Amino acid sequence: MATLTVKVNRVAQESLDIKSFELISATGDPLPPFAAGSHVDVHIDSGLIRQYSLCNGPHETDRYLIAVKKEPESRGGSRAMHERIREGDVIAVSAPRNNFPIEQQAKHHLLLAGGIGITPVFSMARHLLAAGESFELQYFTRSIQHTAFHALLSGLDFKRRVTFHYAIEPDALRAYLRKLLWHRPEGAHLYLCGPRQFMDLVETTAAPTWPPEAVHLEYFAADPMSLTGSQETFQVRLARSDTTFAVPAGRSIVEVLAEHGVHIETSCEQGVCGTCLTGVLDGVPDHRDVFLTDAEKQACDKIMPCVSRAKSLLLVLDL
Ligand code: FES
Repeated sequence: MATLTVKVNRVAQESLDIKSFELISATGDPLPPFAAGSHVDVHIDSGLIRQYSLCNGPHETDRYLIAVKKEPESRGGSRAMHERIREGDVIAVSAPRNNFPIEQQAKHHLLLAGGIGITPVFSMARHLLAAGESFELQYFTRSIQHTAFHALLSGLDFKRRVTFHYAIEPDALRAYLRKLLWHRPEGAHLYLCGPRQFMDLVETTAAPTWPPEAVHLEYFAADPMSLTGSQETFQVRLARSDTTFAVPAGRSIVEVLAEHGVHIETSCEQGVCGTCLTGVLDGVPDHRDVFLTDAEKQACDKIMPCVSRAKSLLLVLDL
């Protein structure tokens, strides 16, 4: 996929463990426009590509703003961003892609962010504010020192639209969410982004009153439980060449096909970003990604082969 060359114009400490990176075009050309909820793939190092949401407001084509939390369990991406990327560095990013768009028909937008989940949600809030839409943002963090963009979100523009919650205990959070979500205002849509436990709790609490089509989520990482599920060997057939390969336990479809010279484009390799989306012509996928919706998973006509496997003995791919 073609990339854009950008310069790291500014690095700022936004909270105790979150840095923001302002990226500007290295060539002087305007950057491609984007909608709220978009992310870019950042090529940090050879073979190290990570997805980060854009935090920008609308109509900004002179810069992309991303923010990265330093994760103690980093697979390499967040540590490299925090420790190696400096102002003045030139790096490659993809054009923005959007898996988490704002619902244009919604009459009200309820935005819920936990920790670093603020990044796409902040962009949504900025876009909604500029468009004069009805919205509110509930932002949950460990403390004010862990709250990225606190000053901006406390400003006059966001007054009465943003509520901060610090160090809220699990029982109190459950009770608060029940109160917040028991009623869905007509035409309202719910957006959430944050740590998996937080998202699971919000989703479960919202389920009785918010229909799935009114709930929008952005995951940062795959569900570790789903990635550790059963690992039986199965066969993959490529329909166009009528060739069949065995995918053994511990290997992904992407890895096995690459060994045989069939390259599927990947990025996150976690079932999160959607880059490796592949059509399924026959067989039953064992979906382990967080990219496809439940309805898409049930349709069994697509798979994310970087993580997903097969429930049937044979899977026929549209490749
Ligand atoms: S590479 Fe990201 S979902 Fe497969």
